Amino acid sequence: MINKSASKRVIGNTEITFQDLPTDNLKSELMFWWRHVMFNVGCGERSFDQHVQVHEDKLLKLFKNLYVKDTKNKTILDVGCGAIGFIHRLDAKLRFGLDPLIEQISRFVNLAEGTKYINKGIEDLNKNDLGDNRIDVVFSHSSVDHWTNPLKGLTVIYKMLPIGGYLLLPHQTVFLNPTTAKQNLSHTHSFSEEMLVAIIKRSGFKAIKLISPEIKSEEYEVSIVAAKGNVIL
Ligand SMILES: C[S@@+](CC[C@H](N)C(=O)[O-])C[C@H]1O[C@@H](n2cnc3c(N)ncnc32)[C@H](O)[C@@H]1O
Repeated sequence: MINKSASKRVIGNTEITFQDLPTDNLKSELMFWWRHVMFNVGCGERSFDQHVQVHEDKLLKLFKNLYVKDTKNKTILDVGCGAIGFIHRLDAKLRFGLDPLIEQISRFVNLAEGTKYINKGIEDLNKNDLGDNRIDVVFSHSSVDHWTNPLKGLTVIYKMLPIGGYLLLPHQTVFLNPTTAKQNLSHTHSFSEEMLVAIIKRSGFKAIKLISPEIKSEEYEVSIVAAKGNVIL
């Protein structure tokens, strides 16, 4: 997401307006991004700049390890893309990033050129937001537990995808564990991996696969892949 060719990543316009945001969840989320970007606040041992690089690489790797190998002719939507995206590094036909904070985030981060951004929660996405485009792959990393209504959001995704379309949903397990989840206001939901699979099933998907890596490090991610139609995963 961050424009590497720009001499300065931070635009410096700090006029973010928390009052405009409808929920405490989004206010807390915006504060998180703003603090980290504007003041280069670190994540664990790393500075935010280092974190961006590591995080972008990680998301790209997560994507590439999942089911969709050839993206060249695909239209990809990153749901809950936040301030650090990665889809600009994918060779894709078209890229969309959706986040209810993206307008606010764009005041202090240079968004990636060539990606179309939608300033909405996934629950409110409608056909007009996409023009004539058809989304082939939805990717969403560690965002579903922030949504206002995960079942509604997943149902929107299911209805929007064509037969043969994919939903790739990697998630940090630390937030899928009832004892470690809900660490702050921005996490509106906490569910186990199994509960999340059950919600995805209720949204309409029949082909769903839960992939857990063998090595369970602190940053370990579980991935859920779902496909629309008669697809074997
Ligand atoms: C933990 S961040 C993850 C950001 C990014 N996917 C990443 O891995 O760096 C969660 C993001 O979900 C977004 N979000 C909150 N509610 C949402 C909703 N209803 N629909 C889509 N995204 C939402 C937040 O604004 C935030 O940027």
